[in-house]
Amino acid sequence: MTLKPLVQAALLLSAVAASAAMAAPQVEVLHYWTSGGEAKSIAELKKMMEAKGVAWKDFAVAGGAGENATTALKARVIAGSAPTAAQIKGPSIQEWGQEGVLANIDAAATEGKWESLLPSVVTKVMKYQGHYVAVPVNVHRVNWLWVNPAVLAKAGAKAPTNFDEFFAAADKIKAAGMVAVAHGGQPWQDATVFESVVLGVGGAAFYDKALVKLDQAALTSPTMVKSFETLGKIKTYIDKDAAGRDWNLATAMVINGKAGMQFMGDWAKGEFTAAGKVPGKDFLCLPAPGTEKSYTFNIDSLAMFKVKSAEEQKAQLTLANAVMSPEFQEVFNLNKGSIPVRSGVSRAKFDSCAIRSMDDMAASSKAGTLEPSMAHGMAIDSAKAGAIQDVIAKFMNSSMTPQAAVQALAKAAKTK
Ligand code: BGC
Repeated sequence: MTLKPLVQAALLLSAVAASAAMAAPQVEVLHYWTSGGEAKSIAELKKMMEAKGVAWKDFAVAGGAGENATTALKARVIAGSAPTAAQIKGPSIQEWGQEGVLANIDAAATEGKWESLLPSVVTKVMKYQGHYVAVPVNVHRVNWLWVNPAVLAKAGAKAPTNFDEFFAAADKIKAAGMVAVAHGGQPWQDATVFESVVLGVGGAAFYDKALVKLDQAALTSPTMVKSFETLGKIKTYIDKDAAGRDWNLATAMVINGKAGMQFMGDWAKGEFTAAGKVPGKDFLCLPAPGTEKSYTFNIDSLAMFKVKSAEEQKAQLTLANAVMSPEFQEVFNLNKGSIPVRSGVSRAKFDSCAIRSMDDMAASSKAGTLEPSMAHGMAIDSAKAGAIQDVIAKFMNSSMTPQAAVQALAKAAKTK
């Protein structure tokens, strides 16, 4: 009699243990894809993993360009509970590799034949000390200008191809009572506009010298002064409520006709298409003024953290292979506004902006005008990028002169 509750408890315990053993393997993924278009995109990966019998634990940290994600990730890694994977890009992958916390996923790369599907500029970034530790997701182009053609028509303005035309259009939009430039006053958005301006004013070779090689002479040159002058002029076309505004809310201003133009990478296209808008008709994707022949790239990737059990490891490799699959590369990038990073994905379903991105990337690669995005963590280490971003933000939010800005920029570029 007295044994009965004990037996019941034991039965219960073994049932719990059995269900734990049978619980689906799980991956926890840290990302910052929380806007409308972004959330739709990452939902596809969740669906795909669940279809493979792997549970998805979402670790989403809101904040454009991962503004807050890195802090959250550091806290988790220090606490000894890193997620399975996290969105980490460019040179930062090496920084995390040096911490000794990333997992070797060569097995997935071998199985998926990544070496034959990815350009070597990409594989280099995904490896730490010769071993794959990250899987690439897509290619975003940063040097775009998003335009509402109905706003242009209402204002009697023309779609701009260079800065003279841009300011002429901006004047007309402003005079017609609309916001000429949709923007959110956050340091990473300021840096996004800045780098497109540098590319437009100075060209790809100058961009490379200044923002990739951090050449002191280029950073303090008259061309850099002119870039800040141009940025200062753009500032006068931004509305007074821009401080702290999220990028997708700025995009929404272009979508609903409140504003005419936005400098932003093609994750903005994800917002337009999620709102049912059609490129060429409801919105235009134009290379940022003066940057038609160049391409600043931003490659999203998921870096993999060391996990404890063989089961977790297996789920991690499944995740890596899913990301590289043509099915995922197609559906994710259709929603995200980016283009596939690997070869062998059909172009058939991609729209005119994506096709243009694909063609322009190939052409600029041939012409030597394909450049890593400084603002999106592709070009330089995070300490230098942070210091440079601070200077640009200060310029945007004060009466700092272009001359003072170039001096501050050159100093920031020396950050260790
Ligand atoms: C990322 C994109 C993201 C955007 C806005 C960029 O740095 O590469 O994937 O959509 O920031 O958060």
